[in-house]
Amino acid sequence: MDKTFYITTPIYYPSAKPHMGHAYSSIVADFFARFKSIDGYEVHFLTGTDEHGLKIQKSAEKAGKDPQIFCDQISQTFRDLSNTLNLSNTDFIRTTEPRHKKTVQHLWKELEKNDDIYLSNYSGWYSVSDEAFYNEDEIEEVDGNKVSITSKSSVEWIEEESYFFRLSKWEKPLLEYYDANPDFISPESRKNEVISFVKNGLKDLSISRKSFSWGIPVPNNKNHVIYVWLDALTNYLSALNYPNKEDDFFKKFWPASVHLIGKDILRFHAVYWPAFLLAAKIDLPKRVYGHGWILSGEEKMSKSKGNILDPLEIIEQYGLDPLRYYLIKEVSFGKDGNISQERLEDCINSDLANNYGNLCQRVTAFAIKNCDGKIPSEIKFKDEDLIILNKYKDNLDKIRSQIDKQNINFYIDYIVNSLFEANKYFNDQEPWKKKNDIIRLNTIVYTTLEIVRKISFLLYPIIPETSIKALKIFDIDEKDIKINTISKNDYLTKDINIKKIDILFKKIEKKND
Ligand code: ME8
Ligand code: MG
Repeated sequence: MDKTFYITTPIYYPSAKPHMGHAYSSIVADFFARFKSIDGYEVHFLTGTDEHGLKIQKSAEKAGKDPQIFCDQISQTFRDLSNTLNLSNTDFIRTTEPRHKKTVQHLWKELEKNDDIYLSNYSGWYSVSDEAFYNEDEIEEVDGNKVSITSKSSVEWIEEESYFFRLSKWEKPLLEYYDANPDFISPESRKNEVISFVKNGLKDLSISRKSFSWGIPVPNNKNHVIYVWLDALTNYLSALNYPNKEDDFFKKFWPASVHLIGKDILRFHAVYWPAFLLAAKIDLPKRVYGHGWILSGEEKMSKSKGNILDPLEIIEQYGLDPLRYYLIKEVSFGKDGNISQERLEDCINSDLANNYGNLCQRVTAFAIKNCDGKIPSEIKFKDEDLIILNKYKDNLDKIRSQIDKQNINFYIDYIVNSLFEANKYFNDQEPWKKKNDIIRLNTIVYTTLEIVRKISFLLYPIIPETSIKALKIFDIDEKDIKINTISKNDYLTKDINIKKIDILFKKIEKKND
């Protein structure tokens, strides 16, 4: 069995600078990518920017810039954010790149060849902000303006010549596919939304626009540009050199393991995208996971609402790993979640500084003082040591299978409990009272150090930089972090000199403390 894993984030619109919602999707995707890579998988992790369409054209006009120059600048801020977030992405795609345009035009021709495209006229509602067509029953009137009921963004009436994709033809095959592949859409609640949307009937989809030019031209008709969603979704294939289906790269990573997205764009990924792929006779991705929204005071955090917590400011103030840990812990994955600076500070103080950082400091300081600065070798495990150590081995398969269900909540709970248990063990065993029983003292120290190692391995996907820093205690390098070794209770050997490390997390002084 070849162990490969292909995960994608949405490609973001470079219409304004990135915000916390974008950071959230990217951090979560990085979590999965890093877990899989320390679990021995070859990982392809793709992110990027979605640069065509009316939304971008209008944003560029508003900024008084040529759209390509506008995209170059803002796309760079997304690329910079990937670095700032310490993402392990293996590619960054831009839809204005030649490799992408080639793939999109090829896919168009495939759809045309299979008689899935025809020319007609479109009339209906369109939201530029969502780049989406809406049916009459998806529109409401707010203060005299027509808006989409779900996204609240305003819609305009458009009428123009347009190419159509025969989406209606794929209604039944899609329903059959969902049925035969119950894990294709996750979480479960969102799957039901999608199924009922499809069951309500699919109309053919407009897939070209004639009234503006910022897009990939339709092959053989330069008056039309390809609908930005057909263009954007195809990035997942162009990054693998499609149409070279025989290419090792493509064969290795397609079908994608997970398209990780926000629930706002589920319909595009769980209805349109699989329909395009079915029509082009390309395998479907294994899973589309639509996570919830980060809210700021009950509302979706978004550019148009101006209620944005800036990830760069937060990182500047608190550091990256606290933000990564906090987002993963605080937002129950799959659901919407509120975030606040106050809760972030609580989380840094309790989980990171007290439970993890302090444990690392305490046990290393104690070992340096009482065990000659070496990993103790004369040890004799008792039941209470083995019980806590063996839990990691006993839970490893469960951890893996929960990760494969994108159950981050299980993973983070497991870590929080493990930290609690480790601190309790060290306190209860009172090694400082065992100076007359050196074997017992050694064993408690050894056990605690082993636990610190195991937890630091598990923390690597969430807070990679800090985990690497903590593992310097044992001279363990990043390349040696392997998840299967958390089963071992004798990983640490006597040749290792224990190193003192700097404080991992500084406590935040709270105003009302
Ligand atoms: O939709 N909470 O780009 P986009 C959580 N270009 N996640 C959020 C969020 C929030 N408040 N706001 C945004 C597009 N996101 C298209 C995608 S993919 C082929 C094309 C995240 O810039 C979330 O992942 O509007 C959401 O789906 C995505 O950013 C939308 O980013
Ligand atoms: Mg959006």
